[in-house]
Amino acid sequence: MSGTATALSDSGPAIQFEDVRLGFSEGDVFRGVSFQVQPRETMILLGETGTGKTLTLKLAAGLLSPSAGVIHVLGKEISSMREAELLDFRRKIGFVFQEGALFDSMTVGDNVAYRLREERVPEEEIEPQVREVLRFIELEDTIELLPSELSGGMRRRVSIARALISQPQVVLYDSPTAGLDPVTSQTIITLILRLRDVYGVTALLATQRLQDGFALANFHYDPQTKRVIRNARNGNAAAAAKAGQTRFLVYRDGGVYFEGGPEELENSKDPYLQRFLV
Ligand SMILES: Nc1ncnc2c1ncn2[C@@H]1O[C@H](COP(=O)(O)OP(=O)(O)OP(=O)(O)O)[C@@H](O)[C@H]1O
Ligand SMILES: [Mg+2]
Repeated sequence: MSGTATALSDSGPAIQFEDVRLGFSEGDVFRGVSFQVQPRETMILLGETGTGKTLTLKLAAGLLSPSAGVIHVLGKEISSMREAELLDFRRKIGFVFQEGALFDSMTVGDNVAYRLREERVPEEEIEPQVREVLRFIELEDTIELLPSELSGGMRRRVSIARALISQPQVVLYDSPTAGLDPVTSQTIITLILRLRDVYGVTALLATQRLQDGFALANFHYDPQTKRVIRNARNGNAAAAAKAGQTRFLVYRDGGVYFEGGPEELENSKDPYLQRFLV
């Protein structure tokens, strides 16, 4: 995990969608989506079911091509990349799939190591790296266990570890707290906070839970005290700036309905946005 953040030298946006359109035979999902995520920023993608959150993450990872429009990630145009280039590009991206999507028949260690084995990393280099990310998620002891032997929250943490194994600069989280109880959700959010504040990871995080977004916007992780601390309302700006901003993107009817910071969203009088706030 050493050096994850420092590799980000590009001063442009980490992720940029320009007038992205996507349609299936059933109809259009996106009719022109544009937004940018700056390095170290966390963008919370909020929207009701079926509004295209998962598809956005798949587009950003180059797992899917847009029907029209341009997508840049880490300074590269991925919407027109060939498969060989995409394979190389995806090493810089961590994808935490909705529901975790671990391989049930593989141990936790093998799940986390999967990507390294695919990339033919020498076997003796794999175990130390796997142990390091498992230590980060505080589950090193589970290395020999099967996913079925873990709780739902632990499985979710392992799926985050699997996404971190190649030290990505950008992590795409698909509904990382869906289906978890509030206390377990908080442990996942704390892990995401630590990743952001220790390694400076840029994140695009899809969720239906507004609380997740506010937790990321209003708290930071202090590596010295190893605690999660509420950002001061005023002052403490240095800590907040260091942690990177949190912004929100709300989809509706195939486009971006709202883009802005937590206060703007919280204070909005818009009836549609207020439905997320109750
Ligand atoms: N391969 C596909 N073919 C046709 N339609 C698809 C395909 N994948 C997704 N869709 C449609 O695109 C829309 C957006 O799907 P997506 O999975 O991105 O929603 P979502 O916002 O992630 O929803 P949820 O909150 O339930 O996860 C849905 O209406 C879905 O049915
Ligand atoms: Mg989804």
